[in-house]
Amino acid sequence: MKLIVVKDRQEGGQKGYNVFQSAYDNGAKVFGLATGSTPITTYEAISASDMDFTQMTSVNLDEYVGLAADHPQSYHYFMQEHLFNQKPFAHSYVPDGTNPDAVAETARYDQIIADNPIDLQILGLGQNGHIGFNEPGTDPELTTHKVALTESTIKANARFFDNESEVPRYAYSMGIASILKSQHILLEAYGEEKAAAVKAMVEGPITTDVPASFLQNHADVTVIVDEAAASKL
Ligand code: GLP
Repeated sequence: MKLIVVKDRQEGGQKGYNVFQSAYDNGAKVFGLATGSTPITTYEAISASDMDFTQMTSVNLDEYVGLAADHPQSYHYFMQEHLFNQKPFAHSYVPDGTNPDAVAETARYDQIIADNPIDLQILGLGQNGHIGFNEPGTDPELTTHKVALTESTIKANARFFDNESEVPRYAYSMGIASILKSQHILLEAYGEEKAAAVKAMVEGPITTDVPASFLQNHADVTVIVDEAAASKL
């Protein structure tokens, strides 16, 4: 893993943008995208740039089960607001949270990824070490699957909803195996509440207790953290 420590998420966003830019300059055509507060500064820098994605494809990591694309807390909606309105792609894929048939939806999404191999995947990091919505204990061999969110993730994500009871209990997520197929991976993490997960991801054993630790098995991972998130390293 290549570790870059920055002062804050503003500087991290700029560095994240540079990673996108170099993938773009090297011919990347499929960008794996993430939601959450972490990638926002990178998306801002991309939005302000002259990069053009109108011939490119994006594939998002995950979506809450039960939320339609026009729900303000859906990941579809998030992507629209933070990136796609400013930088449209030729094709943008996000799991369909309204599909009640998990077997069909996860197979459909696996096929999308097979047809559009990801050149650069951006990731955030859960406080419990999750990536996408791959919670601790997830079988690393899984590709896209339906996930029961853990209590800690529901609590962490409740800040985006009016109250905790509105947070969906399930999500569709790319698996760890899907993520590891990406050619390049960029993970960003900011804030002290991520420090333990960062340490376990970078220095700890590779274990299902810390899904992000499987990134140690990938040959091309860049990790951008601020000083607070790096404080336990
Ligand atoms: C969510 C998302 C992840 C994200 C993580 C961290 O649960 N499914 O993709 O990386 O939590 O969120 P944040 O970036 O807001 O800290």
